[in-house]
Amino acid sequence: MSTDPQNHLSPVWTKYTPITAARGEGCYLYDQDGKAYLDFTSGIGVTNTGHCHPKVVEAIQKQAGLLLHGQVNIVRHEPLLGLISELQTIFPPEIDAYFFSNSGAEAVEGAMKLARQATGRTNIIVFQGSFHGRTVGTMSLTTSKTIYRAGYQPLMPGVFVAPYPYAYRYGWGEEQTSAWCLEELEYLLTTQTAPQETAAILIEPVLGEGGYVVPPASFLRGLRKVCDQHGILLIVDEIQSGFGRTGRWFGYEHFGIAPDIITVAKGLASGMPLSGVFSSMDLMNRWDPGSHGGTYGGNAVSAAAAVATVKAMREENMLLNAKNRGVQMMSGLRHLQEEYPSIGDVRGLGLMIGTEIRTKDNKPDKHLAKAIVHACQDENLLLLTCGPWDNTIRWIPPLVVNSEQIDQALQIFANALRKVEV
Ligand SMILES: Cc1ncc(COP(=O)(O)O)c(C=O)c1O
Repeated sequence: MSTDPQNHLSPVWTKYTPITAARGEGCYLYDQDGKAYLDFTSGIGVTNTGHCHPKVVEAIQKQAGLLLHGQVNIVRHEPLLGLISELQTIFPPEIDAYFFSNSGAEAVEGAMKLARQATGRTNIIVFQGSFHGRTVGTMSLTTSKTIYRAGYQPLMPGVFVAPYPYAYRYGWGEEQTSAWCLEELEYLLTTQTAPQETAAILIEPVLGEGGYVVPPASFLRGLRKVCDQHGILLIVDEIQSGFGRTGRWFGYEHFGIAPDIITVAKGLASGMPLSGVFSSMDLMNRWDPGSHGGTYGGNAVSAAAAVATVKAMREENMLLNAKNRGVQMMSGLRHLQEEYPSIGDVRGLGLMIGTEIRTKDNKPDKHLAKAIVHACQDENLLLLTCGPWDNTIRWIPPLVVNSEQIDQALQIFANALRKVEV
């Protein structure tokens, strides 16, 4: 076998593109020949401030010269404390305790452990189509595709799955779907996991990997009510929907609810590994000191990147840009939907938008979705698919995207549809 490193990567890593990236800047990735790609994947919703935002890069460089690693159980450090100060300005006062780890899955694991210890209850309710990670614990909470669990079973017990209000899939109205899903949740609590055994309800405020589905506000409010009634904790997984992606700091803010626990990662540090579990101090006080942690959690360089990320988002009005560019992209996509019947649905919030691709007889069309994404790639626009059938194309550009770049992406998408739709 050749010694080419490309041939020695574990095949468990799938490969969406043949690109070897040399550098990134704003909404663009550049390959080794200097060819530019318009990146509407944001590294799966991570580079919300754009690739290599100058203020984030500067903060990383400065911190790297001061302290790379100050293990949090041994010392506290300035970037970590500075990050908490920044986060305090974007969360309501009830969220006043912060725990940090490295990946999204690690944050969800932490939230689950916190919920179990704080309530003394064992069970977790999740929703159909959710994605919460790939560790053994989070894989057991993930139901967006069988590939994430096939060959790895048996899974962690104590996980119960309720329907997510994916109105388009059911073919019902939003409110009808919401009411039915809440009824099914009550049924689950009556037939499978008693409220007094249920520690938490864990939900993505906008379903990510499961197909970019926005739930009706009545559903999330209904969940809050069920939780309050039974002393169950409401955990919102904001790993993909957080840090400005939906046009607000966090997805849950669109629905007028207050979660008990919030998990974050991805956009938090613009690409440096950092994740978090946030809640009230009251709740965190019920988490046994030393019973959870990790060597790298709250890493100094990652924390410095996160401070710069939050500041840059605020100083450059990125949330407003996400909202406005989201409106532009949504209306452009809806316009194309009128022309191209394979676009079954266009949905989303801010710059977290999905276009669901369907066959002529209204079945999920993975083949066509993949063909469209490849045709876009040929025109140097990078997009990803998601959803149980991989037939939803996701639109998640950096939040610094401008209107010309949105127009350009829409034009490439239209050309691709023209090319592949039969
Ligand atoms: C909502 C959500 N939760 C958890 C995760 C897991 O994050 P990570 O891949 O960093 O472990 C993801 C990743 O896509 C996600 O979208």
